[in-house]
Amino acid sequence: MRSVIAFVALIAAGPALAEQDNYIDFARGKALATAGDCIACHTAPGGRPFAGGLALQTPFGAIMTPNLTPDEATGIGRWSKDNFARAMHEGRRPDGTYLYPAFPYPYYTKVTRQDTDAIYDYLRTLTPVSNVVNRRTLPFPFSIRTSMLGWNALFFTPGYFAADPGRSEEFNRGAYLVEGLGHCGACHTPLNVFGANKADQYLKGNPIDNWIAPNITNDSQAGLGNWSVDDIVQYLKNGQTRSSLASGPMKDVIENSTSKMPDADLKAIAVYLKERGASGPPAPVPLSTSDPQMVVGQAIFTDTCAACHATNGTGVERLFPRLAGNAIVKQDDPSSLVHIILTGARATGTEARPTSPAMPSLGYRLNDNQIAAVVTYIRNSWGNAAPRVDADVVRTLRGRLSSAGN
Ligand code: HEC
Ligand code: HEC
Ligand code: HEC
Repeated sequence: MRSVIAFVALIAAGPALAEQDNYIDFARGKALATAGDCIACHTAPGGRPFAGGLALQTPFGAIMTPNLTPDEATGIGRWSKDNFARAMHEGRRPDGTYLYPAFPYPYYTKVTRQDTDAIYDYLRTLTPVSNVVNRRTLPFPFSIRTSMLGWNALFFTPGYFAADPGRSEEFNRGAYLVEGLGHCGACHTPLNVFGANKADQYLKGNPIDNWIAPNITNDSQAGLGNWSVDDIVQYLKNGQTRSSLASGPMKDVIENSTSKMPDADLKAIAVYLKERGASGPPAPVPLSTSDPQMVVGQAIFTDTCAACHATNGTGVERLFPRLAGNAIVKQDDPSSLVHIILTGARATGTEARPTSPAMPSLGYRLNDNQIAAVVTYIRNSWGNAAPRVDADVVRTLRGRLSSAGN
């Protein structure tokens, strides 16, 4: 029923859609813009979709996202198809000035011309919104756009996606989406000091906004080694698998983007992530159960956590995530884990699965030593093994979160 309504609404929304060809182009462009999650960055909180004005924090200062609606004065209404394709492919504005890579053009460069044209056509069907965005927010010397010349020379080569003939069509479709429009590596790949992805650490996990975007290679310690293709599809579609729930920045990616993508594309992404190969740190040896931090941690777990996550860490299917074998629990960097315990979390609600259970915030009940102990315990129980966590790490994150207003 829902899809019928959506179909009618689409027809009502776009101009000149009575023609079948135009309708197909419009739907294709819209689907591609969804896969690229343009709306997430190009919409201010409470603002009109695609009208820009969101401040993205970077290590160099805040960068404001521009207005992508076809308004002539304040949006991209005067841009030609070639202008748009150049921005996506080369990271340059129509006058040749450089765009900052907070706009993920190092990924979008891989998108075919046919696909960027379809996105352009879709953006032209949006209602023009007049919204002036101040683009000059970076401090000197980063305010000088020509400084990007050097950055591009070092870290960026424009180039379309090249399929690997030795791989299946499905793998290549997944590669095209992950490496291009999906820009998954923008969050999941570590950055160097210049804010560029470290190519040799592709998808091996990276801290963002006091969370960790975990390793999503097929590594069995820190990555998706224990996930099936179907687990990954379910996660990208519903924000949850039998044992994991999205609750941080990935929750927004799922709500805006992947939950709206066709199942065949999600499967292609999963096949690509599983078959690309594994890379991660060697598996550590678990701490002994008699280690003092483990003993304290176990007592806190039994008291505070086991009612929901079960004494043996198995959780309850589709309700309370499984902690045994859970990649978030085992990541080298415990930021996401400590964050969840300090602030609590609410899982994704998607159309397919509207219920969303919550993890209570325990930051007020447990002190830094207690959180360090319980986290160390769950990282080293039920087959898990990961480095111990010190109270200092908890204290630092608690401080950062409270100054960020959480
Ligand atoms: C991760 C955030 C992010 C996402 C996702 C994103 N953009 Fe952007 N985009 C930016 C930022 C930031 C800028 C401004 C960069 C600058 O000022 O140099 C920008 C600039 C642009 C520009 C240049 C406009 C101008 O006036 O200079 C275009 C065109 C654009 N984006 C299109 C898109 C499209 C199409 C998508 C989806 C396929 C998309 N963006 C997704 C962050 C994003
Ligand atoms: C805006 C940053 C961002 C982008 C873009 C992003 N992710 Fe994530 N992802 C995260 C974070 C952070 C987590 C940790 C869980 C959370 O936030 O709920 C995560 C978790 C995941 C997980 C679960 C891993 C685990 O072990 O629990 C998978 C699978 C995943 N992402 C796949 C993808 C794919 C595929 C893409 C591209 C289509 C993508 N992500 C794009 C930030 C991002
Ligand atoms: C009232 C039930 C409840 C209690 C008590 C509870 N949790 Fe949770 N926990 C949840 C729910 C529900 C989620 C999923 C929420 C989400 O991810 O958005 C969750 C998520 C988590 C996650 C993230 C797992 C993942 O894959 O995203 C971890 C880790 C975790 N809890 C650890 C703990 C620890 C450690 C304790 C005790 C200190 C604890 N929880 C107490 C209900 C509970």
